[in-house]
Amino acid sequence: MSGFSDGLALTGEGFVNPQGTVVLPVQFLSNFTRYGVNGKTYALVRLFSDGLAAVMKKPPKGEARRLIDPKGKCLARWELGTGAALHHGPALRGGTRRGGVRHLIHPLRKRDGDMTDLFSPLELRKGVIAPNRIWLAPLTNTQSHPDGTLSDAELRFLAMRADGGFGLVETCAVYVAQDGKAWPGELGVHDDAMLPGMKRLAARIHEGGALIAAQLFHGGLRANPDVSQREVWSASAYDAEGIHCREATEADIEGTLQAFADAARRCEAAGFDVVELHGAHGYLLSQFLSNVFNRRTDRWGGALENRWRLLQETVRAVKRAAPSLVLSVRLSTEDARQARGIDLDESLEVARMLQAEGVEILHLSLWKAALNTQKRPDQHATPLFRQAVGPDMRIVVAGEVRTREEAEAQLARGADAVAVGRAAIANHDWPRRVQRGAALQVPPLSPTTLHAEGLSDVFVKYMRNWRDFVADTQD
Ligand SMILES: Cc1cc2nc3c(=O)[nH]c(=O)nc-3n(C[C@H](O)[C@H](O)[C@H](O)COP(=O)(O)O)c2cc1C
Repeated sequence: MSGFSDGLALTGEGFVNPQGTVVLPVQFLSNFTRYGVNGKTYALVRLFSDGLAAVMKKPPKGEARRLIDPKGKCLARWELGTGAALHHGPALRGGTRRGGVRHLIHPLRKRDGDMTDLFSPLELRKGVIAPNRIWLAPLTNTQSHPDGTLSDAELRFLAMRADGGFGLVETCAVYVAQDGKAWPGELGVHDDAMLPGMKRLAARIHEGGALIAAQLFHGGLRANPDVSQREVWSASAYDAEGIHCREATEADIEGTLQAFADAARRCEAAGFDVVELHGAHGYLLSQFLSNVFNRRTDRWGGALENRWRLLQETVRAVKRAAPSLVLSVRLSTEDARQARGIDLDESLEVARMLQAEGVEILHLSLWKAALNTQKRPDQHATPLFRQAVGPDMRIVVAGEVRTREEAEAQLARGADAVAVGRAAIANHDWPRRVQRGAALQVPPLSPTTLHAEGLSDVFVKYMRNWRDFVADTQD
């Protein structure tokens, strides 16, 4: 079958769904195989004023060769197998007259030999394809209800990012067990009562055209007993910096493995695409990995083989519980902020072992991704981790990715995708802005601007903890 030179062929009927999204069946041609995207795939194409993005979806029922709106009006036609023979219909929706269907396909174009196109689709697992390489980083926003259920404010904040063009929207750290809760207003996935909210969230993010990931979290010694009303525990006892925690018992560890598995099962039931284990930033899984926080002498401590056991067992439990979900693990690569006792070479070894366990995505939290590693100042983390895990594991990099150039620099180093944090809080439509070269809002920003970006009062207040983010002056 012939098709578009840019690697796509339209193969059947398109339609506009109730959200105003144009759905087109397409086939990726062989020049996309380098992404591992083979066979028949369907694209969900979203109309933007300036262009489109696409997400692969299950095939809609029925096939024809017309793009129709919900009232049955034909918007455009094309002929099977002859991409060039597209007939442009009338304007598809405001502002797209300049290209009709051909323009609509254009943003999917893969430039030959260019492996760093931020806006090319990324297959995470066969059939699970993000429309681009831009993730919303996991962002604690303290907007959930006190019992951990999703609030309308949190849903709105995340939905605006899906609508704004992020290819994957990740939740904040969500606690898998009550004793792991670390913040007031933290989202929970510790109980079946969370399911309706999780389902609502997954459905709404999918409507926006993005994949949805949940970041599964246990605070360990950084859990907040005033919030959780539970005893605090970690790998080893700790009594400093206002933290008082006891050493974990076997029962704590077994219970937590079960809690991670149950949480993943809930995410699967709710329709999520990805779960990520929060193994970074000095929380429970990172505390066990740490040669500072973990001073145990049993099978959970000592040599790396033992310190990594909790993460390994968690990976296995989650894979067993929710095999349909793509599995990601976030790591701090070296000591940074709250992550202590994390050594670069040990992290490389952990990454290798995660790959061997079948973890599909490695999410590197670098804080300042432009910088080289502390341990080897002449080397950057991304190529080191790429070398460790091989070509197939997806690598996502976070840390001061604020501009298109900064994002593309990470892809050029070997990352498959970038996760954007503060710049995404400041710009709900960061992907669309950078795609069309529009100006970005740069913090510090006024509360009024932040409200317009989908932050509630409580989130704006939380953002005051982050230096130079919220402007003191009202506008
Ligand atoms: C407000 C805020 C909340 C965050 N919450 C989380 C979180 O829940 N889980 C996590 O792994 N990282 C969290 N991070 C770290 C971000 O995911 C990201 O790695 C970091 O902010 C660096 O990216 P940036 O420079 O683009 O903001 C948070 C960062 C910020 C600014």
